[in-house]
Amino acid sequence: MSYMTGFGNEFATEAVAGALPQGRNSPQKPAFGLYAEQVSGTPFTAPRHVNRRTWMYRIRPSVVHEPYVRIDNGLFLSTPFTAVETTPNQLRWDPLPIPETPTTFLQGMRTMAGNGDLTVHSGVAIHHYVCNVSMDDTFFYNADGEMLIVAEHGQLRFLTECGIIDLSPGEICVIPRGIKFRVETSGPARGYVLENYGAPLRLPDLGPIGANGLAYPRDFLTPVAWYEERTGRFSVVAKFQGNLWRGIYDHSPLNVVAWHGNYAPYKYDLANFQCINTVTFDHPDPSIYTVLTSPSEIPGTANMDFVIFPPRWMVAENTFRPPWFHRNFMNEYMGLIKGVYDAKEGGGFVPGGASLHNCMSGHGPDADTYTRMTTAELSPVKLENTLAFMFETRFVCKPTAFAMSSGELQRDYWECWQGLQPEFRAP
Ligand code: FE2
Repeated sequence: MSYMTGFGNEFATEAVAGALPQGRNSPQKPAFGLYAEQVSGTPFTAPRHVNRRTWMYRIRPSVVHEPYVRIDNGLFLSTPFTAVETTPNQLRWDPLPIPETPTTFLQGMRTMAGNGDLTVHSGVAIHHYVCNVSMDDTFFYNADGEMLIVAEHGQLRFLTECGIIDLSPGEICVIPRGIKFRVETSGPARGYVLENYGAPLRLPDLGPIGANGLAYPRDFLTPVAWYEERTGRFSVVAKFQGNLWRGIYDHSPLNVVAWHGNYAPYKYDLANFQCINTVTFDHPDPSIYTVLTSPSEIPGTANMDFVIFPPRWMVAENTFRPPWFHRNFMNEYMGLIKGVYDAKEGGGFVPGGASLHNCMSGHGPDADTYTRMTTAELSPVKLENTLAFMFETRFVCKPTAFAMSSGELQRDYWECWQGLQPEFRAP
């Protein structure tokens, strides 16, 4: 697949030469009988640096469809997350099994937790996906939020209105609110989805870090225009106000021959992330690992931060190098893409699994890790074969009934800290 580089750029791309108007967004009659359609991802008057919109030149406009009707939401859930009381206990799950029956990306969405209120564009929902077959004649769009997909296992292909994104484990993909797509897979696949009801994800400010660091804009890849001209009977599933609806189309909605703008899907290979960390002592906060952020109206208080813990050198002197024990205002939903996370070397946190540590719930290294890392020889060491991530949110993540009744919930998670014995000896 072909991609264009940059983050939030004004891209211009056409699958047929001459399809993209030059100089005007809305000519009286676009080339080749195409229809012009603008999709606005932000309010019209959003400040320029956060304003997102794209002009599409398509075979049929989006309005051409039969009326939408309600369908079952299945396990793809939304705010308010009030089905079960939220526990202050630390929670952890084994990976969800990939079904043996045919299951598409959309059918395989399993909502684990969420917060906020999608009707006021605040908060998130956190899902795991498990799938094994392609969405061929079914498409999806999400009016409730943008979707950040974290691939953990298997290959996915996102065929979107703006073009095609191939996604491998270790990469992430963001589908903006409202953009239609379907997902193909050649076999079993699994991963995580952050549904962001808030402000669109953007690169964090770098402050004293300066002009270089963390995720580089040039490493974000947006697909070139691509379209399919298919007629038949297709389902477009819309997620709207927390419910799923289905509209019947007599054509594929992936019929955008050319487009230009800065509102489009993109992907990013997490291996390109440049880590900042101490080269003297102590343990900086995980905000140094922020890949993308969805800011809220309160400065420094993100609706959601996407944070990763990639392979990296650990060099701090006379320092406990994994995260120390901590309790936070922010709420931490973690997943593991591969390897071992350095605070959980005692096992139990495995690729495809997840943990949730909510507001002021104590957590930190398990007893095995504590013992090893308080006695280790502190030479520079490179953490290899590891890639963990965190969806960090400002509101408490409320687990769903599915998550709390799941056979994958580790009901003995609390025991991993019980070996931490008192070691205090008064002088
Ligand atoms: Fe934490």
